[in-house]
Amino acid sequence: MAMAGDKTPPKTVFTHRKGEMIMKKLLSVALCAAMLALTAGCSQKQASSQAPADAESGKLKIGLIQLAEHPSLDEIRTAFTDELAALGYGEDKVEIDYQNAQNDMNNINAICQKFAGDESDMIVAIATPAAQGAASVTTEIPIVFSAVTDPIAAGLVSDLQKPDSNITGTSDAISVEGIFTLADELTPGIETYGLVYNLGEDNSVSVIADAKAYLDAKNIAYREATVTNVSEVTQAMTSLVGKVDAVFCPIDNTVANAMPNLAQIAIEAKLPVYVAADSMVADGGLATVGVNYTNLGKQTAKIAAEILGGKPVSEVPVEVLDEYATVVNPETAAAIGVDVSQYVK
Ligand code: TRP
Repeated sequence: MAMAGDKTPPKTVFTHRKGEMIMKKLLSVALCAAMLALTAGCSQKQASSQAPADAESGKLKIGLIQLAEHPSLDEIRTAFTDELAALGYGEDKVEIDYQNAQNDMNNINAICQKFAGDESDMIVAIATPAAQGAASVTTEIPIVFSAVTDPIAAGLVSDLQKPDSNITGTSDAISVEGIFTLADELTPGIETYGLVYNLGEDNSVSVIADAKAYLDAKNIAYREATVTNVSEVTQAMTSLVGKVDAVFCPIDNTVANAMPNLAQIAIEAKLPVYVAADSMVADGGLATVGVNYTNLGKQTAKIAAEILGGKPVSEVPVEVLDEYATVVNPETAAAIGVDVSQYVK
């Protein structure tokens, strides 16, 4: 596995674009309307014929489960579907049944059971808990996971190079050292870090273990504020104010869902928040050194296309992205008085 130190991270910057947000909202309203129309069309079609959709249309069926809708996972899904189409598996060849599990374990189980029962040709699972749900329903249908931070710790594969079951995919493993080194550069002298994460997410627990080992070795103290769901995130962040000098959040889906609120509390308290994903910087975190999730979605599509084309899963190793970029939020930096100019193009 490649480490962040292998490459000098390119210097990039995120800025908020309000117009774009509004466009996105309008688009999603239009999309909902289109989906409603489609659902109506589908039920009519089913009523007139008993045959399953694929037998009728000759299309491959992909069940696509996404843990929740937050900016990073949405970015992955869009890149995945676009790239899959570019690789020859567009709407004419595959039918993608997209389901959002809304961060709920019961939903994950129900969706995955349905995919298995539907005799899907492939299940694509975005984020660790979704992939774990898919793995629990089938040992036969190929499962391609996306953005699983630590596929081994998550119990999905035992060897990244040689998948030995029906499961392979892409990982967004990161180097905590890269992030803490950046933190030391931007805000030197941090004595105590606050760690905010969901203990139930294996992806977070794995990164937090690395973070603690790093901080222990450097004799830097830390204080944990763990959560079990999205509604606890602001309370966890508030509990750290006045007790820590900075906050670190791993690639945690629960925290990502409440990131704008967490960031607001941190900005008011003038606390730097170092995160592990670029979307969490866009949502108000100060900085990260992380992977590009559009690239990760594309990489996931390449793996899916190979398997749809007939390659056995055992011959498709797990792909770990090894290019990292430093991403800073100049607005957050200005609000808390940190100089990030060297990372602003
Ligand atoms: N890596 C996360 C997982 O394993 C999923 C993820 C992708 C994510 N991008 C993110 C989580 C951004 C939080 C923020 O489940």
